[in-house]
Amino acid sequence: MVKIIIKKKIKNFNKVINVDGDKSLSIRSLLIGSQSYGVCKIKNLPQSDDILSTISGLKKLGIRIFFKNKICYLHGNGLNGFNYKKNIIINAGNSGTFARLLLGLLVKSPYEVKIIGDKSLSRRDFKRIINPLEKFGAIFIPNNKKTLPLKIIGSEYLRPINFFEKRGSAQCKSSVILAALNTPGKTSIIAKKSRDHTELLLRYLKLPIKVIRNKKHDVIEVSGQNQFKSFNYVIPGDMSSSAFFIVLTLLSGNSKLKIKNVNINPSRIGFIKIINKMGANVKLVNKRNICGEMIADIYVVSQRNFKGINCPIGLNSNAIDEFLIIFLLASKASGISYFKKIEELNKKESPRLKLASVILRKMGIKTEIGKDSIKIFGNPNLTINKKILISNFYKDHRIFMTSVIAALSFGGEWTIEDVESHMSSFPSFLRILKKIGYKF
Ligand code: S3P
Repeated sequence: MVKIIIKKKIKNFNKVINVDGDKSLSIRSLLIGSQSYGVCKIKNLPQSDDILSTISGLKKLGIRIFFKNKICYLHGNGLNGFNYKKNIIINAGNSGTFARLLLGLLVKSPYEVKIIGDKSLSRRDFKRIINPLEKFGAIFIPNNKKTLPLKIIGSEYLRPINFFEKRGSAQCKSSVILAALNTPGKTSIIAKKSRDHTELLLRYLKLPIKVIRNKKHDVIEVSGQNQFKSFNYVIPGDMSSSAFFIVLTLLSGNSKLKIKNVNINPSRIGFIKIINKMGANVKLVNKRNICGEMIADIYVVSQRNFKGINCPIGLNSNAIDEFLIIFLLASKASGISYFKKIEELNKKESPRLKLASVILRKMGIKTEIGKDSIKIFGNPNLTINKKILISNFYKDHRIFMTSVIAALSFGGEWTIEDVESHMSSFPSFLRILKKIGYKF
């Protein structure tokens, strides 16, 4: 455990930065690439712990992957082309996305594959994907267990399913879509809105996927067992990582920031919509389409006044990874902010809703927390003059980075433990802070 001590706010800055590549797109391009025929070339893949877990897991499954001049080369063996020995163990580390999506690809596995994860991943719910994957014909051992470690054995006789995804979980939806790739016939999904990277990547590869968008749900149909060729892909910057620097800029007087080449898929910009409703003026410019995804540069300028928000629940799933940092802005806003129906936050790498309330209270902010909601009583004059210790947060990368941004924005003397946690999604986080002027 390494800790960081921050005693000073950040000084004003005017910089241009790039954040690391998007985690969701990186994991999807590697997993879907593993099912293609030939050599995929993936640019700008981050060297974060979640991506390294994905790469080492795929290598254990017989996929050749190497880096040359910072480009990732992956040799796909075609659909269900994994090639591995009996009784292998795959360590998904901290990555729920890798573990849940990989299980979708293993529904046809001829041998048992055991999936394990770190302490945080081992307390997260896997029943949400076990249920639909069992309907395809896969078997999980032990029967009736909800958490990792788990073993999966696939079936030779897969059947397509009808699935209602009611949580707004892109991981559940994607796990089912990936299982459908190896299954004969047509799998149908009615999914509450959530990030649609898997659908867009399959469409980019011209695979038979049909999506009908209704107001609340998407109706998705995937026809399976279509072999496809390898592809080239470029990973754009991660909106969830950009969010930390956007809020830092907003809260630091006389500062300006441009973040280049960030993914602005509409299902990922709930955060921008929410903070702009609170009075921010974050701009997305130079919009273009790369590999089937929308990309832009982000412009943000510091501001003085923010107002509280009664956050529309329709934006929840599109901002699901950004709530912690949105809560910081709500702490400095005038009036009360109310976020509801966000029980999924307690099912992330840590119980984020509960921990957010603890941290905000340490900062002197009043909160009222319910089972699935939080009210934050903002203080536009917030400055902190005391010592704050942030520890025991299940090494949740987003709790670590949110705490660093709070320390640099509001002052006080912060000791934040488990520095290494940020490596799971955003290894360049501290390097970028240095670039914009913070001296550690
Ligand atoms: C992700 C989906 C979200 C998100 C996670 C990445 C994905 O999880 O929190 O960081 O890449 O599909 P849920 O699907 O559980 O909401």
